[in-house]
Amino acid sequence: MTNICVIGLGKMGLPVAALFASRGNRVVGADISQKVVDAVNAGQCPIDNEPSLPEMISAAVAKGDLRATTSTAEAVQASDVVIVLVPLLVDPKNGYEPTYSALESAMLGIGQGIHSGTLVILETTLPVGDTRNRLGPIIEHQSGLRAGDDFLLVFSPERVQSNQVIKNLLEYPKVVGGVNQRSTDAAVKFYKESLTENVIAVSTSEAAEFAKIAECVYRDVNIALANEMALTAMASGVDINEVIMAANSEPLSNIHKPGLGVGGHCIPVYPYFMINRPGQNDLARKARQINDQMATVAARLLRREIGALDGKNVLVLGLAYRANVKEATFSSAILLIEALQKAGATVLVHDPLFTAEEIARFGAEPAQDLAALPPLAAVVVQAWHTDFGDLAWQDLPGTPVVLDGRNAVKRAAIEAAGLRYLAVGVGERTVPASV
Ligand SMILES: NC(=O)c1ccc[n+]([C@@H]2O[C@H](COP(=O)([O-])OP(=O)(O)OC[C@H]3O[C@@H](n4cnc5c(N)ncnc54)[C@H](O)[C@@H]3O)[C@@H](O)[C@H]2O)c1
Repeated sequence: MTNICVIGLGKMGLPVAALFASRGNRVVGADISQKVVDAVNAGQCPIDNEPSLPEMISAAVAKGDLRATTSTAEAVQASDVVIVLVPLLVDPKNGYEPTYSALESAMLGIGQGIHSGTLVILETTLPVGDTRNRLGPIIEHQSGLRAGDDFLLVFSPERVQSNQVIKNLLEYPKVVGGVNQRSTDAAVKFYKESLTENVIAVSTSEAAEFAKIAECVYRDVNIALANEMALTAMASGVDINEVIMAANSEPLSNIHKPGLGVGGHCIPVYPYFMINRPGQNDLARKARQINDQMATVAARLLRREIGALDGKNVLVLGLAYRANVKEATFSSAILLIEALQKAGATVLVHDPLFTAEEIARFGAEPAQDLAALPPLAAVVVQAWHTDFGDLAWQDLPGTPVVLDGRNAVKRAAIEAAGLRYLAVGVGERTVPASV
């Protein structure tokens, strides 16, 4: 049994806290939100859409293995291992530069409560070098203790996806890198005992920080490549899905899926931790541009199909950044709404996972009641929730065309409803399918 503190009980921190508590550890969570703390202490789950989390929290709180507090210092004082999952916010209007205030205040709290021998693990995604050079020194300064000597300091990226956090925590290898070997060894031992045998130790905290950024850059660049090829495929009259399926049958080829942009907390954001640093980063920067420009491509494709969009109603299906999650952070729906509005369209958004008020905050008209839609000029599939499978395409008023931005909809269903099907990377068939 280990005494563990998790700072930041959000979409990532709370599942981490609940999972460690469910494995017989004594966990205290610290969060600045009184509402979150009260909910956890009442055995309730303040987060939607995270399978098995509500049951885990109520069981762990009832057993006395999980509690929450607003005092970081008190939580740290009671713990031997401290895991940090408070957000590092980035500002798109300021070149995606990070704002450190939440993390810095968490470090001050750690500095007040820390004792000799505490293992501090930063799991919030960070620019390379921040664990050692920016955040560790705040703890040192506050506590008078030395990182790597008096307390142990490690970076270990959180690699999971919301809506499947517990599942991913249990199945993905845990990468750890400390500010020195003693720190790394302590973190490897902790994760092996408390989470998984599958721990990958790298030699420095910087390598662990970069590993998370590298995952994001890799996926962003790969998707940008798929998008570029998708547009070429359209011009050539071939179907990119078929091309990728065939190309990926070669074991070294792993081309991702094209689509109308990339959203979420990680892939559209963390590449900037590389792009904004000196060094070779042209490809990472270009990939960001290509993926963000897919929203403009959508407007262009629609204009080509139905003429100018001025005054026309376009329905976007899915505000979420990906299917089946209630999460609109950096969703490509935001760029899509902007691009369609810029082209003159009136943009309606339908997403059953969000309320009308939540949708309206993104500047679009909520269209939660599909039976009350005005005549549509087009429908754009932005995120394909499972529930959309039941959609009665023939009942949508007036729309001639569906643009499938995720290559997710069955073309036959659209065409059976008498509508035209258009998808990113699917050109007109110029060659008979049987040839
Ligand atoms: N959400 C994802 O999909 C995802 C995926 C992988 C990694 N991550 C990493 O996890 C981090 C946290 O993300 P999240 O989705 O859990 O955020 P979140 O916004 O859901 O939750 C953050 C929590 O931290 C609390 N908080 C803020 N400042 C605090 C402070 N000073 N002290 C204590 N608590 C504080 C907030 O009240 C909130 O409850 C991200 O910055 C990212 O690096 C997120």
